[in-house]
Amino acid sequence: MEEVICFSPAKINLGLEILGVREDGYHELVTLYQSIDLCDKIIFKVRTDGHILLTGNDPLVAWNKTNLVFRAAEILKQKTGARLGAEILVEKNIPAGRGLGGGSSNAAATLLTLNRLWDIGYGPEELFALAAELGSDVSFFLIGGLCLGLGRGERILPLEEPTRWWVVLILPDFSVSTALAYQEYDLLERSLTSTNKESKIIQFLEAKDISLIRQFKNDLEAVAFKIYPQLAEIKQEINSSGAELSLMSGSGSAVFGLYMQEDLAREAAARLGEKYRTILVATVSREEYRRKLGTGASPNW
Ligand code: C5P
Repeated sequence: MEEVICFSPAKINLGLEILGVREDGYHELVTLYQSIDLCDKIIFKVRTDGHILLTGNDPLVAWNKTNLVFRAAEILKQKTGARLGAEILVEKNIPAGRGLGGGSSNAAATLLTLNRLWDIGYGPEELFALAAELGSDVSFFLIGGLCLGLGRGERILPLEEPTRWWVVLILPDFSVSTALAYQEYDLLERSLTSTNKESKIIQFLEAKDISLIRQFKNDLEAVAFKIYPQLAEIKQEINSSGAELSLMSGSGSAVFGLYMQEDLAREAAARLGEKYRTILVATVSREEYRRKLGTGASPNW
């Protein structure tokens, strides 16, 4: 039986601006997603009996029907009536609950790969609809590279990509629940008197001025830093190491530094690595992203 190996990259959010709460309870966002070279490996094998079997090597992740990979396979089967099944093995490198989108990336890779292995022939419209049902940032992982995210984060616009950046990633030993972070944000936001809703991300896209990235914010930081003051400390340390930008990714807990120069990034990673679990990675372009997903998954759109 055919076997396909995919590499499923993580993301960071180069900025995350919350514009308000929507009627459905979700938050209206302006965010910049960027793929990074920290990947899970996923092995897919087709099964003719129609069963979906999922296993993974991270004991902190639930490898059952609640897992986004399983749900992605099942939703694809339900919607299309596909008769084939799959055996899916996930080797995790992207830690869960750190705002790096590992589960969402795995889910998008599953949609793309099974779409091909099961010979379904879905195009972008159908796959984006399924991705949005699975989670707010699954859609981004159908595309990868650098993208603007709007709406809940599921409306994706691929952007022209600057040169490769270096990313120093600090991985705290605790995870943050995204749902809880947004709930806490609502409570905190109510107590704030002034809000500045002018989007730095939109300004950056309009002016095409790369220096504006230094002003990017993650509106979920205030909440996370209140609960975990050590995150603010990490951000400060990264800031003083020559990073262009230092920010928490998504709802945390990972905090990253973005560097234009490799040597600065290496120095910072070595220094921070003495205190924290630290990884040095590069950004991944859309083209590289497709290559990592592999010929079995890469969309031709
Ligand atoms: O869409 P996803 O399942 O990834 O979102 C997890 C939780 O994060 C949601 O249940 C919701 O509470 C919150 N969320 C939000 N606004 C967004 C994205 C997520 O309130 N734009």
